[in-house]
Amino acid sequence: MDAAYEQLANRFRRVHRHLRKWAKRTDVSCYRLYDRDIADQPLIVDWYDGDAVVWAHARTRNETPEQEREWLARVLEAVGAGLDLPSERIFLKRRAPQKDRQSGEGQYEKLDQRRAVKTVREQGLLFEVNLSDYLDTGLFLDHRPTRALVREGSAGKSVLNLFAYTGSFTCYARAGGAAATTTVDLSNTYLDWARRNLAHNGLAESPEHTLVKADCLEWLANAPSAPQRWDLIICDPPTFSNSTSMQRPFSVEKDHPWLLAQCHALLRDGGAVYFSTNFRGFELSTVMPPFTIEDLTDRSIPEDFRNKRIHRCWRLTKR
Ligand SMILES: C[S@@+](CC[C@H](N)C(=O)[O-])C[C@H]1O[C@@H](n2cnc3c(N)ncnc32)[C@H](O)[C@@H]1O
Repeated sequence: MDAAYEQLANRFRRVHRHLRKWAKRTDVSCYRLYDRDIADQPLIVDWYDGDAVVWAHARTRNETPEQEREWLARVLEAVGAGLDLPSERIFLKRRAPQKDRQSGEGQYEKLDQRRAVKTVREQGLLFEVNLSDYLDTGLFLDHRPTRALVREGSAGKSVLNLFAYTGSFTCYARAGGAAATTTVDLSNTYLDWARRNLAHNGLAESPEHTLVKADCLEWLANAPSAPQRWDLIICDPPTFSNSTSMQRPFSVEKDHPWLLAQCHALLRDGGAVYFSTNFRGFELSTVMPPFTIEDLTDRSIPEDFRNKRIHRCWRLTKR
């Protein structure tokens, strides 16, 4: 391996040695090892309990596909050496720039059929991850502290989890003693995945704990006219969504004031919504119904994420 890749391997080795102790102490088995720390190595590398997932961003000077292939082969070698992993335990994916992902459902489409599926442990709970078949793995590691906050505040509460993906927030709310949960997502694939995650934690659907397949925009437009109200809402929408089963496209930048106004209408007095986005350059609108707004961004980004702009997060409490 030439010096540049030796340096990369050493970095993986060093960070892994450091985080391994912290991970054991905090009961975390999946964490971020590398996020574009070295200029011309635009990679993200996450550890998944004995496997590594590597997202490669485009390298400006990658003139030809051949050069890119050459680069990726050397990256895999460095990951294998740095983390002492055989190639079959390293999952490489390409990640397009955020602006290019603003079309269709790209982020959530199936990319492969290898089904490298395993159950991982996080802060006392178990989650299914798929390391091979989608761009994401089924568990967004950057929201680990936010999930813990939800658990702390869920005892006896009714919790609404919007854009719920694989239901990790719902699992935490129920582990925290939530009296009722409503988990809403557009995708059957992810709702089934959420059911499996609940089952991994000894939980199941019931009249109090429901999973709803729906377009959140349509669902939120109708919900205020129904009697049900919630104490806690998790609202972590995609940056952009225009799935064919939606009435109109969604953009977090444009639509979040409406989204939060609908959430306000669904909250009991004193209830709160955890709103988050990973859209770069996002500005929270000042046009809001009466909320007390706390910026939780710093508190909600975990120690293993050195990129402190990975997401923005607020708790908005209904006044
Ligand atoms: C960023 S993920 C949410 C991650 C989730 N909060 C978590 O922490 O695991 C966005 C989710 O929104 C869902 N989604 C996208 N557009 C939607 C819509 N119009 N209505 C409901 N769900 C939607 C996608 O299927 C995906 O599961």
